Amino acid sequence: MESYRSRHHQLCKEIARHNLRYYRDDNPAISDHDYDQLMCELINLEKAYPELQTADSPSQRVGSAPLDNFPQIQHQQPMLSLSNGFSEQDIQDFDMRLRKQLEISEQHILEYLAEPKLDGLAVSIMYENGELSYAATRGDGKTGERITENVKTIQSVPLKLDKSVPQRLEVRGEIFMPLAGFNALNAANREQGKKEFVNPRNAAAGSLRQLDSRITAKRPLDIFIYSLGVVSDQNFARSQADSLKKLGQLGFPICPMVELVEGFQGCIKYHTDLSAKRDNLDYEIDGIVYKLNLFDLQRQSGFIAKAPRWAIAHKFPAQEKTSKVLAIEVQVGRTGAITPVARLEPVFVGGVTVSNVTLHNKSEIERLGVRVGDTVIVRRAGDVIPQIVSVDLDRREESSLGFVFPTDCPECGSQIIATGEGIISRCSGGLSCAAQLREGIRHFVSRKAMDIDGLGDKIVQVLVDQKLINSVADLYSLTYEDVIALEGFAEKSATNLIGNIESSKNTVLPRLLFGLGIPQVGETTAEQLAKTFGKIDVIKQLKHDELERLPDIGPIVAQSIVQFFLDENNLKVIEQLIASGVNYPLIDVSVIAEGDLPLSSKVIVLTGGLESMTRSQAKSRLQEMGAKVSGSVSKKTDLVVVGTNAGSKATKAADLGIEMLDEAGLIALLENN
Ligand code: IVH
Repeated sequence: MESYRSRHHQLCKEIARHNLRYYRDDNPAISDHDYDQLMCELINLEKAYPELQTADSPSQRVGSAPLDNFPQIQHQQPMLSLSNGFSEQDIQDFDMRLRKQLEISEQHILEYLAEPKLDGLAVSIMYENGELSYAATRGDGKTGERITENVKTIQSVPLKLDKSVPQRLEVRGEIFMPLAGFNALNAANREQGKKEFVNPRNAAAGSLRQLDSRITAKRPLDIFIYSLGVVSDQNFARSQADSLKKLGQLGFPICPMVELVEGFQGCIKYHTDLSAKRDNLDYEIDGIVYKLNLFDLQRQSGFIAKAPRWAIAHKFPAQEKTSKVLAIEVQVGRTGAITPVARLEPVFVGGVTVSNVTLHNKSEIERLGVRVGDTVIVRRAGDVIPQIVSVDLDRREESSLGFVFPTDCPECGSQIIATGEGIISRCSGGLSCAAQLREGIRHFVSRKAMDIDGLGDKIVQVLVDQKLINSVADLYSLTYEDVIALEGFAEKSATNLIGNIESSKNTVLPRLLFGLGIPQVGETTAEQLAKTFGKIDVIKQLKHDELERLPDIGPIVAQSIVQFFLDENNLKVIEQLIASGVNYPLIDVSVIAEGDLPLSSKVIVLTGGLESMTRSQAKSRLQEMGAKVSGSVSKKTDLVVVGTNAGSKATKAADLGIEMLDEAGLIALLENN
C-alpha cells in the first residue's frame, strides 16, 4: 500500500504541475473541480499528519510563482484567498462560527456584503498621491508580477484620482473578459485560423500576460474592484459596503450586483436570486462571496493560514469537469447532415449528468484534436449545450489513433459529401436513407410540430425498419392491424395511437409547416409564414423576393423554402397529407395586425396538466389569439392557467397576486374570444 508520505509527495508534484499549466501557460490540463479535489486531499492529509505541512507545500501557496518575464512586486499586504463553501449548511456553519467567535447574542444578526465571485484574475492597483503607480497580479500571494502597462490599457481603470484621496491607496479587484467581448474575440480568431480561447478566464489571463501591452489594449478586458488593500488613512472607510461606495464615487468600477444582506438567511436568499440571474450576466461568476460588513468585526475575527475568517466563497456547482471519451460516433439528421458525437464516461457537470456531447462537424474534431480514449474537459454552463473544451494531451495513451471521419453514411452506405470546408457533411442518400426518413418522421410527430403522443423514437424506428411508412404522409394510412402487430402494443395502446394520429389531423398551419422539416425553417419562421400568407397553397408558390420581404427571412432561408417546394416528392407528400384529412383553420391574413388580437400583449403561463387538451395545444390556441405564452411566472405575468398537480408556479402566482384560471376558465376564455 502506498505510504501517506509518498502520496503526499505525489500530490505536491501533481498540484505544482497543474499550477504551472493553469497560471503560467493559461492551459489547464484538468477541470477546476478535479484540481480542488487534489487540493482537498492534500489539505486533509496534512491535517492528519501535520509534519507534512512544509512551507513550500502547495497548500501554503495561493497561486504559483510569478513569471520571470515581468518584474516582481512584493505585496505590502498579502493577497489572500477565500475558504470555499458548497452547501447551505456550509454557509450556516460559517455564520455560526463567526457569531460564536465574536460572541454575538442570539437576538443579533450579522450583516454581510454579498458579492458575485467574479471568474477572472485578481489584481492589486496602487495609487500614490492620486496617481496610478503600479499594478500587480496576485502571484503566490506575497510576490506578484508587475503588469502596470497592461492594466493601464483597461479603459475603466482610473489613472488619476481626486487629490483628496489618501496618499497611498491600494485597491484590489478582478480583471475579466465580458462574454460579448470573449465571443467576438473567439469568432475573430476562428476566422483568422488562430487558436480559440477555452473560456473567458483563460482569455483574460492570456491577454494580461502579454509582454507587449499594445496587444492587451486590443483585448476586451474589464474590471470590478472588490476591496481595499493598503490605505494610508485608517478612517477611509468603516465597512466593506462603505469602502465600495467610496471607491465607486472615486470612479472605480464596482459590480452593480453587490448587496447588503442580513445573516445566514439573507445570504441564502441572495444566492437563490443571483443563481436565477446568472445566465443573463455579461460576465462569468463561479459563486458568491459573503463578507462580514463591519471592518471592526473583520479585524476581531482575523485570519487562518491563507484566508480571512470573516469571508467565504459559496461556490456554484462546477461547470467544467474531466471525463473520458469512450467512442466517437456519427449521427445522420433529417436533412442528411452528419453530426459526430462523443460518447463520454458519464460526468455530473453544471447540474446535469452528461454522457453525450456533440462534436458538431469534422473541422471541430480537427480543431480539438480529440481521439477515442482521450481525457477531456467537459463544460456545461447554464442552458448552453455541453461541449468539450480541451483535450489533456499529457494523459493520452500511446496506442491512441486519430479519428477518421467516415466517407460513407453509416446507415445507408451512400457517399458522404462535404461542403463548406468540413463544416457540413451530408449523406447523399436522400429519402432512401432510413436515418433521414426516421429523423424526418420524428420531427413531424414531435411536440412542437404535429404533437402525436405515443410515437416515441423506438416505434418510429420499427415503423421505418419494417417499411410500414415511407414518408410522413404514410402515418395517416397506418391501421389498427398494422400497429397491434408490432411488438409491445396491446389493444389499448394501439387504439390510443391510432386515435392520436387521427386527432392530429386537426392542426394549425404553423405546426404543419414546421413539421414538414423545411431546412432552415424553425418554429418562428413557420409561424411568420403562416401568419403572413395564410395557406400552404400560397406559400408553395412564393418567389424568392416575396419571401425575403419577411423580417426574419434572408437569402439562404428563402432559397431553402423555394427549393423545398420545387421538389416533386415534397409536393406529393403535402398533397397526400391534405388528402388524408390533415387540415388547419384558414388564417384570414387581412385581419391580422399586431395588437388586433383578443389576447395581444397578454403574458400567460400554463402550469399543471389539462384534460381536454395537451398543454402544447393550449399554447398554440393562446398564441393564435395573440398571447405570449411564457415558461415562468414573474411580475410581468398577466394570467396563470392552473391545471392538475400544479406546483411552485401556482404558489408563486398566488404570492404575486396574479389572476389564475382553472381548465374550465381556460376553455371559456378560448371560446369567448
Ligand atoms: S475578496 C481576502 N471578492 O476569488 C479576500 N475575491 O479565492 C480576498 N474573487 O483571488 C478576495 N470575486 O480573485 C473577493 N467579490 C470578490 C471576488 C473575489 C472574485 C476572486 C479573487 C480571489 C479569489 C479568492
